[in-house]
Amino acid sequence: MKEILIITGSPRKGGNSDRMAWAFAEGAREKGHAVSFFEAGKKEVLACIGCNTCFTKGQACSFDDDFREMAPLLEKADVVVFCTPLYYYSFPGKMKTALDKIYAFLVGKRDLRGKECLLLACGYGHRENEFDALSLLYDLIWQGLGWKDLGRLLVRKALRLGDIEKTDGLVKAKEMGRRIS
Ligand SMILES: Cc1cc2nc3c(=O)[nH]c(=O)nc-3n(C[C@H](O)[C@H](O)[C@H](O)COP(=O)(O)O)c2cc1C
Repeated sequence: MKEILIITGSPRKGGNSDRMAWAFAEGAREKGHAVSFFEAGKKEVLACIGCNTCFTKGQACSFDDDFREMAPLLEKADVVVFCTPLYYYSFPGKMKTALDKIYAFLVGKRDLRGKECLLLACGYGHRENEFDALSLLYDLIWQGLGWKDLGRLLVRKALRLGDIEKTDGLVKAKEMGRRIS
């Protein structure tokens, strides 16, 4: 049994990427894994100000914000899933703000190595290279942290709420969840 943390990026409740996250979670739970969520797009995480006081005041970040909920979930996760809509070729700002704060673990010399991770993303995906920046950013994150990439699912033609239902994105996301071993 693995501890899986799904970090979601959408501010839109029940939107396309939320549904991907739920489908993945369903598949993973079927296989007996424990799944928790941190809904970065719906939380209040203050932007890092580079004070470098991480972990010196008993918390990962000195700000009293929702990163206090994410930090312990991140620390105990075996698998981290980044599940996000594409916003201007990248993660939505609130999700990026939360991900920036993983920096606290580097400053605080807290070892996060050895985790596995996946990227689930959706967008309209008009252009061939629409997801390239997000995909590269994801690669830099897991490589920098010494994690292992288990795969990515990039779903196009998902623009309006519920569009994801008309794609194969949910079936594939559930299958990815089932494949966690
Ligand atoms: C601010 C904003 C920026 C967006 N930028 C892109 C983009 O760069 N490329 C793209 O294909 N879709 C883009 N989209 C479309 C969203 O990725 C798409 O609507 C997605 O399905 C939203 O997922 P959600 O329902 O989980 O919020 C953008 C949407 C918003 C609101």
